[in-house]
Amino acid sequence: MKQLMASTVISAFALLSAQSLIAAEIEPINIPALQQEAKGVIKTLAGNLGSELKHAAKAGGLPAAIQVCNTKASPITQAVAEDKGWTVGRTSLKLRNEHNAPDDWEKTVLKKFEKQAAAGANLQKMLFSQVLVDGDGNKVFRLMKAIPVGDKCLACHGSKIKPEVAEKLNVLYPADNARGFNAGDLRGAFSLQKSL
Ligand code: HEC
Repeated sequence: MKQLMASTVISAFALLSAQSLIAAEIEPINIPALQQEAKGVIKTLAGNLGSELKHAAKAGGLPAAIQVCNTKASPITQAVAEDKGWTVGRTSLKLRNEHNAPDDWEKTVLKKFEKQAAAGANLQKMLFSQVLVDGDGNKVFRLMKAIPVGDKCLACHGSKIKPEVAEKLNVLYPADNARGFNAGDLRGAFSLQKSL
């Protein structure tokens, strides 16, 4: 298992350095610094979302907390992003809100994460980044970081969801596909990008 993890890390780095080499011919790009910055944004965002959720659950119970996720998750995400010059989102292959649907690049990375997770890789450290260049030569740094399912997520994403919680979810998300998770599963990923 250890060997597998090491090889996935190496292949991610190999791809990364190949990408940064191409870009470096024009202007050096400090990939480790960008990764560090992105991780900082994710930490702030995860912290904000978590405390907002805790606060709402304490004040009005889980159904109220769902309302908070529904109305506040997106603005909270955007505020953090604008603050730091990043575009930030959360996405998944098993969606609750279809507005969080992955684009092609994100889908590919999520599938890669799923494979690594199935092989026993550590979700806490699962990360992938790449510098992409569009047809006009504009460079964008993109990064995804895996989101594991923790115990506190199960009330709304697990398989034994209380009737009053399920009722609220059914109303807001009739096509909800984000239930039935177990602790330790891959829930999805934070997805960030920044123009270079
Ligand atoms: C109180 C209920 C509740 C709890 C607890 C909760 N979530 Fe959610 N989650 C939601 C709702 C509601 C949405 C949809 C938000 C929206 O409309 O943007 C959501 C959306 C998400 C998304 C975005 C992708 C998608 O499917 O739309 C991710 C990722 C996610 N949750 C992960 C987690 C993780 C990880 C935890 C535990 C740390 C957690 N959630 C705990 C209710 C909850």
